Amino acid sequence: MFFNDTLSADPQNRALLNFEMRHLEDKYRNQVLTMACTLVSLVDLRDSYTGGHSTRVADYSRRMALELQLSDRDTETVIMAASLHDIGKIGVPEAVLRKPGKLTEEEFEAIKKHPEFGWMVLRGVEGFEEISLLLLHHHERLDGRGYPGGLRGEEIPFGARIITVADSFDAMTTNRPYRKAGSPEAAAKELLRCAGTQFDPVVVEAFMPYLNHTSLNLTDAVGIDTP
Ligand SMILES: [Fe+2]
Repeated sequence: MFFNDTLSADPQNRALLNFEMRHLEDKYRNQVLTMACTLVSLVDLRDSYTGGHSTRVADYSRRMALELQLSDRDTETVIMAASLHDIGKIGVPEAVLRKPGKLTEEEFEAIKKHPEFGWMVLRGVEGFEEISLLLLHHHERLDGRGYPGGLRGEEIPFGARIITVADSFDAMTTNRPYRKAGSPEAAAKELLRCAGTQFDPVVVEAFMPYLNHTSLNLTDAVGIDTP
């Protein structure tokens, strides 16, 4: 037991200990949140072209986590990981990140390193162990053709599968150095088309209420394949 039995047996002492424990937990969570916010600001400063990307991915991920009725703790973890998912891009040369044209194979390989960079930075930080794993796997695909691990289906952490959908939707609906933004309707149809191969169909389905609520016309979208 964490506390001395004699101390915790007294109701007054127990209440005091509980209060102090909650205070310490709140303080710890606040420190973790403050550090997460600082790191997000660093990411957005570095990659100003897609400024706001991390925030939008976090917002979409939060909506899906709520729709999927994840626990408060898991929801918080997913939101933090979504906010930090691209932090490893700090380790990718700026010329590659900002290149307006098509990437060479070598440049693409450099970009593909960012999930591992993010994981390496955060895996040893207390409170960020689980988050670092979601960073590591946010470019995996359900069919095993993603990176860096080539994980399949349920081998991919569920939170990472949520971030993948949010990240892809935002990538398709915002301007990038190499192409113009597509419409939200086209992006939603693409998510549905790739559900079961690239994306987890359960996660895609959990995104649809929000996308439908934002008046997308999805009446002729293709159905969801099951894996
Ligand atoms: Fe990424």
